[in-house]
Amino acid sequence: MRLTQLLALAAVILGVTAAPQVIPSGLTLQRRADPDALIPLRFSLAQSNLDKLETFVLDVADPRSPNYGKHWSPAQVRETFRPSQGAIDTVNGWLTDHAGIHADKIKLSPNGDILHLDVTIAEAESLLQAEYNVYSDEDGNVRVGCHDGYILPEHVSKHVDLVWPTVHFGGPRSFSRRSTSIISSSRFGRESGAPRLPIDNIAAFAESGCDESVTLDCLRALYNFDFTPVSGDMNTVGVAEFGASVYKPSDLDLFFNSFRSDQVGHTPTLISVEGGDPTESGDVDEATLDIELMMGLLGSGQNLSLYQIGKTVAVTPDPMDELLAALDGSYCSLSPVGSEGITDCGNKPRTNVISISYHLHPDINDPAISPVVQRQCTEIGKLALTGITFIASSGDGGVAYSQFEECLQPDGSLVAFGNGSFVSQLPASCPYITAVGATSVVPGASTDQAEESTTIFPSGGGFSNNFPRPAWQNYAVQNYLDNFAPSYASSVFNRSGRAYPDVSANGWPIVIAQNGGFIQSGGTSASAPIFASLIAAVNDARLATGKSPVGFINPALYSGAFADAFNDVKVGSNPACGTQGFPAAPGWDPVSGLGTPNFEKLKNAFLALP
Ligand SMILES: *[C@@H]1O[C@H](CO)[C@@H](O)[C@H](O)[C@H]1NC(C)=O
Ligand SMILES: *[C@@H]1O[C@H](CO)[C@@H](O)[C@H](O)[C@H]1NC(C)=O
Ligand SMILES: *[C@@H]1O[C@H](CO)[C@@H](O)[C@H](O)[C@H]1NC(C)=O
Repeated sequence: MRLTQLLALAAVILGVTAAPQVIPSGLTLQRRADPDALIPLRFSLAQSNLDKLETFVLDVADPRSPNYGKHWSPAQVRETFRPSQGAIDTVNGWLTDHAGIHADKIKLSPNGDILHLDVTIAEAESLLQAEYNVYSDEDGNVRVGCHDGYILPEHVSKHVDLVWPTVHFGGPRSFSRRSTSIISSSRFGRESGAPRLPIDNIAAFAESGCDESVTLDCLRALYNFDFTPVSGDMNTVGVAEFGASVYKPSDLDLFFNSFRSDQVGHTPTLISVEGGDPTESGDVDEATLDIELMMGLLGSGQNLSLYQIGKTVAVTPDPMDELLAALDGSYCSLSPVGSEGITDCGNKPRTNVISISYHLHPDINDPAISPVVQRQCTEIGKLALTGITFIASSGDGGVAYSQFEECLQPDGSLVAFGNGSFVSQLPASCPYITAVGATSVVPGASTDQAEESTTIFPSGGGFSNNFPRPAWQNYAVQNYLDNFAPSYASSVFNRSGRAYPDVSANGWPIVIAQNGGFIQSGGTSASAPIFASLIAAVNDARLATGKSPVGFINPALYSGAFADAFNDVKVGSNPACGTQGFPAAPGWDPVSGLGTPNFEKLKNAFLALP
């Protein structure tokens, strides 16, 4: 029997294992790891009360709940979900008694949810019954892990969500320009399905219709968004940029000079996470689009915060963990080995709204991915409980993963621009996030008419394989499945999964200034920050009347009181994976969600809530 078969057999007897038997795309096996090398090993402990997370969140987010808007304090969240002392003792006891690790070496993270210790490879292999290897990634970084899986005894495994590094690979990873622009595997990156086209004469161009060039005025007209902040000193809104996504102040000024004069000379307020620095050289594409749109729509009466996530990623799987760690201390475990531990632990300010225009993981059922994304979505849900609205782009790849349109093969691998089953994307498909798809003005139409889903790239939408459909979207999604869904085989998409996008907003052809000139840009990359700006403006209105920020908005958006807060998008589709994807339809659909917002109606519906 091969080792993997033995492991699988042992798993049935002993408890948990995570044993994908292939090396993830993007990694190349180099050699067995040196038995004497030290690695930081982390055990993410199962949290308490997670089965009640959804109930707790709905209690503050369901518009029918008497506790609507009464968000929890960070301390209350921490205490409620902290792993039990029994869980800590069991894992600790196993490490010390069975494995002979000295108790002094084992440390508990500040949030009490991660046990970490530095061990040699030989110790790790014996503890986890695993074979550790050294791999290299596409950027030439060395990564350590055990792609063949690992085993924990059953009495331990029930208290552990995941162990790093294992099938969840460790080691420093850069987020280089190269990896964002030519990724060919299931890695994270910005959305870049929409082209970038130079504009020669901006003055003439800006005069054309909103079907040919989308300016801030077009967005205001489309979404009935006439906004002057009145609570700017109380309200907060942020945008997250990962790694080497940077902006140039000169580009912002070029844009503001033409379209938003009160913002000339202004830049976002930097919240640097893990040393993130937007003045370094990097890729200006995503951050420039996000910042110009949000500062342009909000105006100088409302500051925008920029969460700039550092380039070097620690042993955790991706930069989303660094953002979450900075907000609430999750994923933090200060490790003495090298500089691999996360250092920004719950020490960064939280904004009421956070916009994210990146894809981080394909939403597939895979032992290397599922525990990671489920833990992330849990952490997002816990932050939602404290009143934060997370808004994310639904992706530029239609029913496939990312703009590289990766579809799932029967053997579990992903193939770019091929056929296969549909693949949703994280973070958009996490139910505690509001996912935003992309629309365009119909050629020749005015801003009074309903938009269509984008045709220049397929707007992301579909059904999760990791998260079941939440009750708040049951009616809307079932209506689509019963009346409008194409008759794909049941293996093509997961009818019982969380469906997205939730809403949509314009994603092409948006005028911005970048690298010293004007361009047409877009993508769901643009749609997310546009929608996030409107939600920030809703918060401004609620704060002015002494109410709380809206926090997690999905249960409200799908409820009857919000039915006319959206312009229904009924035209378009999101083809990929060798199919026509899903067609848009009356009501909610997995291309445009509930539709595009009507700000006045959206604001009034939220003002009517407690
Ligand atoms: C925006 O930030 C600047 C700099 O920190 C501050 O002086 C200003 O008061 C802020 N504006 C608002 C509306 O809070
Ligand atoms: C479909 O979604 C459900 C609910 O999240 C999940 O349990 C199931 O494993 C998914 N099916 C596939 C094939 O991924
Ligand atoms: C993908 O599917 C389409 C439509 O079913 C078919 O025409 C095409 O040949 C397939 N392509 C590949 C690479 O299998």
